[in-house]
Amino acid sequence: MADTATAPVAVAPPTRSAGAEEFRTNGIPMGAPIPPASEIDLATLDITDPELWRRDAFWDRFARMRKEDPVHWCPDSPFGPYWSITTHKDIMTVDTTHEVFSSEGGITVVDADEDFKLPMFIAMDPPKHDLQRKTVQSIVGPDNLKSFEALIRSRTSTLFDTLPVGEEFDWVDTVSIELTTMMLATLFDVPFEDRRKLTRWSDVATGRNNPDIVTSEEQWRGELLECLGYFTGLWNERVNVDQRGDLISMLAHGEHTRNMTPQEYLGNLLLLIVGGNDTTRNSMTGGVYAFSKWPDQFDKLKDNPALIPSAVSEIIRWQTPLAHMRRNALSDYEIGGKTIRAGDKVLMWYASGNRDETQYSNPDDLWIERPQVRRHLSFGFGIHRCVGNRLAEMQLQILWEEFFKRFDHVEVLEEPGRVPSSFVKGYTRMPVRLTARQR
Ligand code: HEM
Repeated sequence: MADTATAPVAVAPPTRSAGAEEFRTNGIPMGAPIPPASEIDLATLDITDPELWRRDAFWDRFARMRKEDPVHWCPDSPFGPYWSITTHKDIMTVDTTHEVFSSEGGITVVDADEDFKLPMFIAMDPPKHDLQRKTVQSIVGPDNLKSFEALIRSRTSTLFDTLPVGEEFDWVDTVSIELTTMMLATLFDVPFEDRRKLTRWSDVATGRNNPDIVTSEEQWRGELLECLGYFTGLWNERVNVDQRGDLISMLAHGEHTRNMTPQEYLGNLLLLIVGGNDTTRNSMTGGVYAFSKWPDQFDKLKDNPALIPSAVSEIIRWQTPLAHMRRNALSDYEIGGKTIRAGDKVLMWYASGNRDETQYSNPDDLWIERPQVRRHLSFGFGIHRCVGNRLAEMQLQILWEEFFKRFDHVEVLEEPGRVPSSFVKGYTRMPVRLTARQR
């Protein structure tokens, strides 16, 4: 982007129509019965079907793959053929073997469009990945985390003090989205009143195939270019003044990021927006939902808040906010008795590895005192391990600390709505009712 950013690049018109309808008609139709895993042909099992994720109906399929075919080849899907890596051990191997399993070419099952590439450092290999990661990682260094703590606590307290006790409200929008969006606004130092724009761009970035978010490819690209236009303004404000501590300023001044193309700037922005938003947001909702299923664990935590750090790690394992990360094989590789060929698409299913019965006892249960509770896969492993993991844990710890100071109980009133995506494993809404703490 050099000294002064240019206007957003002209981008060629899309070459295909909206993916959503195309996608849905290829998979299980909305509302149609979903056969149990035992009745389907393993050879053609496609776990990426969004309807499986919208209905939380994929667990038995993963269990069957882990047992019968842990390195599974899907020969045909709307995204082309791909491998599924489903066990904890094999996921660790793939995630830490970046010389073979490259991130270039995309980190989700969806391929990048040739005419609308969004380079971002999560989808790069060394050395460029390492240099760009280093440019931003001090935003969540120990000093910054310390200074964020008081801010997060005061925002969480203020929000909790305004919640309608005894009345129904949507936890997703009122709490999870609001708290994570406020944090993002701080990391980017964007005007506070614009913070919901970040929520929207996060949803759009991951919602390309979700008709509840965008209904055409034109709309998808258009909204992302709006995001680029907005952030180009902030870049221009910050590039010619001394470097400050926010992410835009870091990117504008960083030796390895200051000459990014506009598309690469947009790519990295979306990485940081989605990274800091959807994931933590869905852990905030996932925790409340999980406690509604395991009320004894909630009571135990209420009686002993010293267990909060362990409970937070367990919630992040149980929720697994990003269900998969993709790699692209650079050379042939033997794993689990199968040969992955150079050029193959490989999906590491963290959602499955985190429920691997050979690694965890009672893996489907929420157990806040689980031994070695931080040994989950939700943040990945290896050179791409989540930059923001300590920040996310801190946000969640503060949420539960402040929660128990004010409330005795949160009742989940209906099954939550779920995102129809095999990448972002999360919630669209969850009505709840709070009970105030009895003093
Ligand atoms: C519970 C919350 C979070 C979860 C579950 C999560 C999960 C992940 C995962 C699975 C990866 C890829 C790991 C791999 O490929 O091995 C990742 C990378 C990343 N995350 Fe997070 N994340 C969370 C919170 C955050 C936050 C709060 C931020 C921003 C402040 C963030 C920023 C990033 C970035 C920049 C990367 C790319 C790292 C790289 O490629 O080197 N994440 N995250």
